[in-house]
Amino acid sequence: MTTPAPSDAVVFFGMTGDLAHKKIFPALYNMAKREQLNIPVIGVASSPWSVDQLRDRARDGIEQYGGGVDDEQAFGRLAELLDYVSGDYADLQTYKTLGERLRNSQRPAFYLAIPPSLFPVVVEHLGAAGCADNARVIVEKPFGRDLVSARELNKVLHSVFPEKSIFRIDHYLGKEAIQNIVYFRFANSFLEPIWNRNYVRQVQITMAEDIDIQGRGRFYEEVGALRDVVQNHLLQTVALLAMEPPVGPEVEDLRDAKEKVFGAMRTLNRTDLVRGQFDGYRDEDGVANGSDVETYAAVRVFIDSWRWAGIPWYIRAGKNLPITCTEVLVELHRPPQRVFAEYEELPRDTNSFRFRLNPQVQLALEARVKVPGESFMGQPIELAFTENHPDEMTAYERLIGDAIDGENLLFAREDGVEEAWRVVDDVLEHHDRAYPYKPHTWGPAQAGGLIKDADGWHDPVL
Ligand code: BG6
Repeated sequence: MTTPAPSDAVVFFGMTGDLAHKKIFPALYNMAKREQLNIPVIGVASSPWSVDQLRDRARDGIEQYGGGVDDEQAFGRLAELLDYVSGDYADLQTYKTLGERLRNSQRPAFYLAIPPSLFPVVVEHLGAAGCADNARVIVEKPFGRDLVSARELNKVLHSVFPEKSIFRIDHYLGKEAIQNIVYFRFANSFLEPIWNRNYVRQVQITMAEDIDIQGRGRFYEEVGALRDVVQNHLLQTVALLAMEPPVGPEVEDLRDAKEKVFGAMRTLNRTDLVRGQFDGYRDEDGVANGSDVETYAAVRVFIDSWRWAGIPWYIRAGKNLPITCTEVLVELHRPPQRVFAEYEELPRDTNSFRFRLNPQVQLALEARVKVPGESFMGQPIELAFTENHPDEMTAYERLIGDAIDGENLLFAREDGVEEAWRVVDDVLEHHDRAYPYKPHTWGPAQAGGLIKDADGWHDPVL
């Protein structure tokens, strides 16, 4: 296995923006605390700021979104590494100035924390200014807004960067809990014999958020739940749960296995989707009066593979639901034959695996055990493992660190991203109107119809 050479400088386009404020500065600060950041960190944006202003912005972001500055020395180390280039993204001079600041760097990494509409201009100028040689580029979702635009975006990136130098951040892949799924599946041998259509009856994934759209009306009108979290975070989660065992330990072995799942996912049609919109959404700033954008989406996915043929994967995600929790439930078939009198009354979820991804890492196996006494009557119990590490790395910290190191395991690959768009592409346009639902409920009742053959949704309980 060849270890890639780490980047020797990291450049953030859009360093004065929201993403940098909320996620990137806190992540960089945590890296500095762990002494894992020792390369120049250069911000680029159009605001005519000084480096000191950027340092103030960093402190503010860490105070507001990163739990505060509790280690002045670490903050000092980060502040020392910061540099800033102000300029117009469409002006070659900006990149020449940047090139000057990067004169000691052989392998910079460029993080595009900017709207995708600006990617072409930045990528082309990086190439034209000679900044892109041996460089990496890190991009954020959304990777397009449908299949056509995703392909165009990939074309733009590939015009300057080879695929192996492109790091597409889907922050779900940086979560400890998501990695635990992969580890649990392939570090244990007991799971493999039952991890297929012969034993699994259905899989449900719920991503519930009790928050509304938090003033991001304009943004949300452009995306909706399907584009915002289903096409990316939740289909990536499905792929990790459904993939075949990787053929070896190389990064690309695991990525090959994962990306293949997207190719086997059946394209959704309008009967596979129920959309919802919480009451009050249309009163939000930036939202159109008659908006039909969904704040809730429930879908049914099939994976046409030997392992999963015919098994439904139900996914739902929504804003303004009763709790914030992301959970996977893998339900096994009931025992095949009646042995105990209680069989007819058995609840549907006789045996299941439960993976909680948020708010904490939790892994549980539900089983039935006999209640002490004369008769063969049982009760469900759960064998659960919960992990809470206050010092756990955040997804952004892990992903920025990995991209700098050139480790691309946790990043979305072109083929998977495009296939995931192909899965949802038709229903992005062809769907029924969004059904209204009351805030702090589990979404529109019609979503129950989608899953009636599988006895309804399993609502996570905190
Ligand atoms: C983002 C979405 O990608 O993920 C947000 O744009 C969503 O709408 C967020 O709230 C959820 O991420 P997390 O890590 O808080 O579960």
